[in-house]
Amino acid sequence: MTNLDSLIEILDFEAVAREKISKMAYDYYASGANDQVTLRENRDAFSRIQLLPRMMVDVSKIDLSTQVLGMDFSVPFMIAPTAFQRMAHPDGELATARAAGAQKVAMCLSTISSTALEDVAAATNTTLWFQVYVYKDREITRHLVARAEAAGYKALALTVDTPKFGRRYADVRNRFHLPEGVTVANFAAAGLEKLGAVSGESGLAAYSASLFDPSLTWDDVAWLKSITKLPVLVKGVLRPDDAEKAIAAGVDGIIVSNHGGRQLDTVPATIEMLPIIAETVNGRVDLLLDGGVRRGIDILKAVALGAKAVLVGRPLLWGLAAGGQAGAEKVLTILREELELAMMLSGCANVNAIDRSLVS
Ligand code: FNR
Ligand code: LAC
Repeated sequence: MTNLDSLIEILDFEAVAREKISKMAYDYYASGANDQVTLRENRDAFSRIQLLPRMMVDVSKIDLSTQVLGMDFSVPFMIAPTAFQRMAHPDGELATARAAGAQKVAMCLSTISSTALEDVAAATNTTLWFQVYVYKDREITRHLVARAEAAGYKALALTVDTPKFGRRYADVRNRFHLPEGVTVANFAAAGLEKLGAVSGESGLAAYSASLFDPSLTWDDVAWLKSITKLPVLVKGVLRPDDAEKAIAAGVDGIIVSNHGGRQLDTVPATIEMLPIIAETVNGRVDLLLDGGVRRGIDILKAVALGAKAVLVGRPLLWGLAAGGQAGAEKVLTILREELELAMMLSGCANVNAIDRSLVS
């Protein structure tokens, strides 16, 4: 058993995870596409941004709460959708959902989770969103969305940067596939739950190439909205003109994301694109960001530059690997405590006080 007390910062969890889980699982979680330029840039770009703190503000009480899409969030961050969490820990998404519930943090579940969406919903009372990959057989997606709605998910995040998966060399070399007992759990009834090894290819790349719909356009946002009452966000926007198209298509929120550097390599860091997208969006819909968030100060910077909240991906996988629910909870606790400290040191007693002028 890993002693969680010895894990002080988010990066400590990755080192432990690397020791504890299979190389195939670690590489799948950690990798970016191609040369992993964007993967590194997501972190480097946060480091380059300088903060300009305000002094002599009463920060004896810090309020981290905010609202996203009209929903109450206790903190301006949430858990990003990441696939196949049972490769990190046998409890997988159930442990993440319980951690999210205990820490009052919202969670977005992946379409290709390794636990059925109903079971995840039953494991937590936190706010759940559901991430949507559209299958070529639209009836499959229609049914999935109906299930998510019936199970109490509160929003849909349509991922728009994945007509196909990016080229992740480690997954090709490892012939990535799901280990015994781990499935694409939401598709058991459809008979599409198996993701096996394929020669010369990542099994996931092969699975998605045969099943995901690469013909999606902005018109399909209207289709998605026509089959659900839930608010719809798009996840994966990197350009202001796409943000404009998303708003025209009727979205309720936009997630600025490069998929954690896993899709098109050499795209810019999300935090670099956020200010110009925020300027275009100008408060018409809620804006969120993910990619490389590892510190409380990263969250502060993203909120200062126009995000209502951020999503955090890999750190939760590392937390799960290190200690299941307790590990995931500790990751969330570290982020909360670091954000609270960052707000105190920069003179922000509440999330609304985090403004553009904090960034030089
Ligand atoms: C992802 N991401 C992702 N996104 C999505 O829309 N559906 C999915 O199923 C997955 N699965 C997934 C698996 C793994 C292992 C990773 C690392 C990422 C992308 C994810 O939601 C998010 O955009 C990034 O993870 C954010 O970057 P960080 O926080 O990991 O740096
Ligand atoms: C990934 C998926 C599942 O990035 O979105 O691997």
